Amino acid sequence: MNVLILYFSGTGNTKAVAEEFYHALILRDYSVEVHSMEDKFNPAIYPYDFLIVGFPKYYEYPVLYALDYLDHNLKKRGQVIPTLAYCTQAGHSLTDFSGLERLLRKKNHRLITSKSLPYANNLLIFSMFGSTTPEVLKENKRILKSQIDPLLDDFFLGKECKERVAWFRSILYHFTAVVFTKFMPIAGMKYSSSEECIGCKICACNCPKKEYKDGSE
Ligand SMILES: Cc1cc2nc3c(=O)[nH]c(=O)nc-3n(C[C@H](O)[C@H](O)[C@H](O)COP(=O)(O)O)c2cc1C
Repeated sequence: MNVLILYFSGTGNTKAVAEEFYHALILRDYSVEVHSMEDKFNPAIYPYDFLIVGFPKYYEYPVLYALDYLDHNLKKRGQVIPTLAYCTQAGHSLTDFSGLERLLRKKNHRLITSKSLPYANNLLIFSMFGSTTPEVLKENKRILKSQIDPLLDDFFLGKECKERVAWFRSILYHFTAVVFTKFMPIAGMKYSSSEECIGCKICACNCPKKEYKDGSE
């Protein structure tokens, strides 16, 4: 049986969780492929029987980049594909997976498991969550390891275990995510990584994402 793991990870947390799933699946004798969504991997070329998708929570919602990637790259399958989705996050609130579930349904993938996994906050910019101490990170990892096997047990048995949020939160979080995803990069132009920044924009011009246009603030 083949399992495909697709993840998006900005600072490494979601990738670390994908690797935990990978090792747990190998121990269960599954064939597993792991790909970052940023590799532009085409899932249609791998004949998977199960799908695992992972992404961080941005602005209280699954990062829109991941939803967009899945919408464009998952092909509708002949057989129903059981899917497990996880979301890493700095806080402890539940995540709204309903948009993802609708998207998966269109592609004949069935969401069986959806789970939020609190993990270290790597970005000091989100100081409201506080930076994560090594002790907290160690505890995050310990809890994560204890969660993987029970999650997989239920998933392979087809036992549904899905997080839900109230409908009004679902609308609010989606709206917030759309607005913030659009405007935060503009606000972010004013941030610098250290006090030595003189605003010369060399880093922006050499950004591998190549999204910087000279003249924009
Ligand atoms: C732009 C941005 C927005 C975030 N918004 C939230 C949020 O609303 N709630 C939350 O719990 N964590 C939030 N976080 C923290 C991330 O979800 C968390 O650090 C996640 O594990 C990062 O995963 P990654 O290392 O795979 O990118 C945010 C992080 C970033 C960069």
